[in-house]
Amino acid sequence: MATASALFRATFGVAPRAAASAPGRVNLIGEHTDYNGGPVLPVACAARTFVAVGPAERGVLEMVSTREGPVVRTDYREGQAAGWGGYIAGVMRELDALGAAPAEGGARVAVASDLPVAAGLASSAALTVAAAKALSLLAGARLRPRQLAGVAFRAEHDHVGVRCGIMDQMSAALARPGRALLLECASLALRHIPIGGRLLLVDSGLRRELAAGAFNERRVECEAAVARLKLELPELRWLASWPAAWLPRLKRALPEPLRSRALHVIGETARARFGAQLLARGQLKPFGELLYESHESCRRLYDCSTPELDTIVAAARRAGALGARLTGAGWGGAVLVLLGKGKGRSGKNEAKVTHEIRRAFRAAYGREPAIDVVYPSGGVRRERVF
Ligand code: GLA
Repeated sequence: MATASALFRATFGVAPRAAASAPGRVNLIGEHTDYNGGPVLPVACAARTFVAVGPAERGVLEMVSTREGPVVRTDYREGQAAGWGGYIAGVMRELDALGAAPAEGGARVAVASDLPVAAGLASSAALTVAAAKALSLLAGARLRPRQLAGVAFRAEHDHVGVRCGIMDQMSAALARPGRALLLECASLALRHIPIGGRLLLVDSGLRRELAAGAFNERRVECEAAVARLKLELPELRWLASWPAAWLPRLKRALPEPLRSRALHVIGETARARFGAQLLARGQLKPFGELLYESHESCRRLYDCSTPELDTIVAAARRAGALGARLTGAGWGGAVLVLLGKGKGRSGKNEAKVTHEIRRAFRAAYGREPAIDVVYPSGGVRRERVF
């Protein structure tokens, strides 16, 4: 936290009044299901985004980050701030709407983060959830974690225009250390599930931006699939709720590529629900198999993988990892690898898996991917200011 506070002091010449932090996330299974009303199973990672705030005059947002150049100054009530400032402006507007924006009507914001951007770890949700918490504390408002997630979601979805689901914000707000969060995105019912096994994150080094392009295109395809399927089943609201027993009917009703997209969402919904049960019972081996199946479905049916991600997953499998799959939206970003827990045999296994991934990736792309252990951590929290 020292960095965000120190940056605030160095930039604005006064101490911040409130601060908060929120984590990135690694999704275990349930990819592209959230905006289709299905389940997701993320864990929060140890890397976090820290936000320190203080008051400013009405309408004014002055923002600075350890990553990006000079101070950005904007009137958050008007138009769109560019880049990451747009996310904070969205948060301010949403807090305003709830009557939970700082009383002075403006804010100074300093951001420090150890989360890579566009790496599939939901850095934008960490930013918006931490900002929502810090700015609401500055306002003296006590928002519940679900409310913070709502503010952060609307900031990104309605103001910035990324048509994301609710997984990332709910994870950043509600995750618990050592637990995965099973979230049903239609009802928002949730359950915390202890994690056995050891998780690695292999970063392909490929970055992607969500605001434009493939992600929003997939959403449009899913909506088009629902519109067609409603002719078969008028009550249908979410793609994920299509009855699994009616797959032949779905296949007849949908042309490609809508058919493939829908088959991924429905299969992934079943895998995530079953996977959560297996994880809760500590059955890591069959859980890991589901991860491999999920990757294959993302690759073949949802078309959101890349050759780099496929290379990493195949190497993990050859070396005997329990499971591996792309995590997050795809089109770059990172692969999650599941290993057994404990020292001895599985320690040796970890060395073998990381060695094989490095070797295969180097052979194909002439460089090595970064590999880190994922330590499932807790959601948003207040931080001390210095
Ligand atoms: C992005 C979105 C999430 C989710 C994933 C795919 O991270 O922000 O809401 O849709 O992609 O599962």
